[in-house]
Amino acid sequence: MKFFVDTADIADIKELADTGLLDGVTTNPSLIAKSGRDFIDVTREICGLVDGPVSAEVVALDHDTMMKEAETLRKIADNVCIKVPLTIDGLKTCKKLTSEGTMVNVTLCFSANQALLAAKAGATFVSPFVGRHDDNGFDGMELIADIFQIYSNYGFDTEILVASIRNPVHVLQSALIGADVATMPPSVIKGLFKHVLTEKGIEGFLADWEKTGQSIPTS
Ligand code: G3P
Repeated sequence: MKFFVDTADIADIKELADTGLLDGVTTNPSLIAKSGRDFIDVTREICGLVDGPVSAEVVALDHDTMMKEAETLRKIADNVCIKVPLTIDGLKTCKKLTSEGTMVNVTLCFSANQALLAAKAGATFVSPFVGRHDDNGFDGMELIADIFQIYSNYGFDTEILVASIRNPVHVLQSALIGADVATMPPSVIKGLFKHVLTEKGIEGFLADWEKTGQSIPTS
């Protein structure tokens, strides 16, 4: 499973990229607004920090303007992935861009039928929003399982990018289903490393090690 971080915060991206475990980045207009940075500048900087796909979202609602915005965004770097909304114009744009070899992430997916359309439009990634789905009384994980089943039935190449992840259980359940990618806020990625017994174990080992009076030579 690939791990993407869902943020436009450079410090967080650098910290996570340094672990060697980060496969990509997703942004959206809300995250760009939160960063307070110029969209093009911050996207260029992020693209230099990771080798994998960096999703940058168009804001136009019509196909022609989406294509013009995508033209600007895809010139930023080779690893830019154009993010389009799951609408008729968004999927028309997806079809055109992917046929030209540009990566596309179809976002704001809330039904398995929408995911089927995204795959038919040749999307590189489809982003079902599990957290927002749960918030509205639906089952986000059931959505992921349905999309996984449909994509398996027909052998679609579109990768399931689980988005709007709010906690480590979302990550676990996505991995159990077999989703391709999880995009997570930095806090959720960092939370995956933690376990109280790991911390307790380290404390115990170090306390015993001190009793030996030894040290491991480091040079
Ligand atoms: O980037 C899209 C998605 O991950 C947003 O998540 O928490 O705003 O629903 P959230």
